[in-house]
Amino acid sequence: MKKLIMATNNANKLREAREIVAPLGIEVLSLGDMGIDCDPDENGETFADNAAIKARAVRAAVTEKTGGSPAVFADDSGLCVDALGGRPGVHSARYAPKGQECAKLLGEMNNVPDDERTARFVCSIAFLDTDGQLFTVSGKCEGNIGYEQRGTNGFGYDPVFMVGNRTMAEMSADEKNEISHRGAAMRELYRLLKERYGE
Ligand code: IMP
Repeated sequence: MKKLIMATNNANKLREAREIVAPLGIEVLSLGDMGIDCDPDENGETFADNAAIKARAVRAAVTEKTGGSPAVFADDSGLCVDALGGRPGVHSARYAPKGQECAKLLGEMNNVPDDERTARFVCSIAFLDTDGQLFTVSGKCEGNIGYEQRGTNGFGYDPVFMVGNRTMAEMSADEKNEISHRGAAMRELYRLLKERYGE
């Protein structure tokens, strides 16, 4: 396998994936690179389900367009807050209008004491190989929900997600990659690809 399609057009995710698999001599192509537009209903109950839904939909779209069956991978991620019974979880992207997720979450956490503010970011990656086999890897990052928004880096829930005494929005991209759920899942994907396609 020399080409791998990533089910995204997100420039940051692509750059990170390209850097991680480059040592294996694998080229990562985006949906835009393939000229396809694919946005399936992510109605699974788990991050792994949703990642698999995306990977399968992208593969079907590529096959329809090119006749080939390339390897593809898709990720799905979100924030699980213990005091909210795991919410927003798989609904993280739809929890609030973009840019308002942190304010809404802080509101819901208003009366939650220090030791009950634990949360984790989770990321699952579904890798669909050329032969149709599906593999799932995942990563997580444990932290706490803070009391106010801090920092300007990152996106989504980063300004309220604390690891130690800093929010993820106060970390550089490299610092975040080292501890993040997505970084951990991407490193698992690298190990899987190396096992199957490494020298
Ligand atoms: P997706 O997996 O890219 O669709 O992300 C789902 C949603 O989870 C995003 O829209 C964010 O709200 C949230 N999310 C996932 N990963 C992160 C992260 O690293 N920082 C902040 N929010 C995240």
